Amino acid sequence: MPEAPPPAGDDAVPESLVRAGADELERAAEAALRPRRLEEFVGQRVVRDQLSLVLQAALNRGRAPDHVLLSGPPGLGKTTLAMIIAAELGASLRVTSGPAIQHAGDLAAVLSSLEEGEVLFIDEIHRLARPAEELLYVAMEDFRVDVVVGKGAGASAIPLSLPPFTVVGATTRAGLLPAPLRDRFGFTGHLDFYADDELERVLMRSAGLLDVPLEGRAAAEIASRSRGTPRIANRLLRRVRDWAEVRGDGRLTLSAARAALEVYEVDERGLDRLDRSVLQALCLRFGGGPVGLTTLAVAVGEEPETVETVAEPFLVREGLVGRTPRGRVAMPAAWDHLGLERPAPADTLFG
Ligand SMILES: Nc1ncnc2c1ncn2[C@@H]1O[C@H](COP(=O)(O)OP(=O)(O)OP(=O)(O)O)[C@@H](O)[C@H]1O
Ligand SMILES: [Mg+2]
Repeated sequence: MPEAPPPAGDDAVPESLVRAGADELERAAEAALRPRRLEEFVGQRVVRDQLSLVLQAALNRGRAPDHVLLSGPPGLGKTTLAMIIAAELGASLRVTSGPAIQHAGDLAAVLSSLEEGEVLFIDEIHRLARPAEELLYVAMEDFRVDVVVGKGAGASAIPLSLPPFTVVGATTRAGLLPAPLRDRFGFTGHLDFYADDELERVLMRSAGLLDVPLEGRAAAEIASRSRGTPRIANRLLRRVRDWAEVRGDGRLTLSAARAALEVYEVDERGLDRLDRSVLQALCLRFGGGPVGLTTLAVAVGEEPETVETVAEPFLVREGLVGRTPRGRVAMPAAWDHLGLERPAPADTLFG
């Protein structure tokens, strides 16, 4: 089966405060806010519980735990958990990623230099090249890597045995992982979007670390606009802090939060300007649809791909937009959100 192309990625996207991806600069700012231990990690109760058992059992046995796969959308804490796993095990962490490994030889070099008990974090593991993937199966299962020496007919593979280690893989697209690779992980944790009260706790914790006076009601306001994503919550917190320091009295109050997020055009549900213009076009210009993606994109002056990969997933998740075989439709909640009267039932798909 042909693989779906990877999504455009957030670098292809107009500036926005509520996209879940992060650039290098932001990742650096995030490092300071990362929980270091499992008990500091907010929310994701199920995954946290399961992981704590896996880790404790391994510690009790004095052996490296099974390989761990972490899957879920960007900004929910996969990298954070990978670091926590190493910290909880008292092990050192080696970091690489699917795209960084161009050839199987690159991976063989990393694997053959691993020390006993180390944690190897492979980010974006769904982007590993096929030959590297095959090398990884063997290494994960048999703790062995075949080092190829020589070229052509004279080449031979020398098996090199590896000390026990643990692979932690992270992926935003678990569906793209080939089954044999997926099967080699003894534990898979799927991260889901956070509830607002969990994001409030993330925010209060971050405010403490950044030493900014964040009021409870402001935390709730920021949380509700953060799309279930800690990365976005932390980002909005930084922007509200800017506002409070420049235009307010330095305190992060409810009114400061609202004023700041108005400046940045992040609305009550965490929609940004592009999201809203898609909704407005759907409701006002196309009477709620159905309308084809290309037509809709032209109406908002964007590429179809941008509308489809950047704006649409969240709008669909929020129940604001529906996808039908005949095109995109505005759901009743879209009219409500824009403060418009819903069209008469007979005129809609839902009548
Ligand atoms: N459960 C949590 N509690 C507190 N902070 C969190 C939590 N999850 C994520 N964060 C914060 O959110 C930010 C993004 O998290 P992280 O980098 O781990 O996401 P990710 O899933 O690896 O994203 P990507 O797919 O883009 O790599 C970090 O600053 C991290 O501190
Ligand atoms: Mg990450």
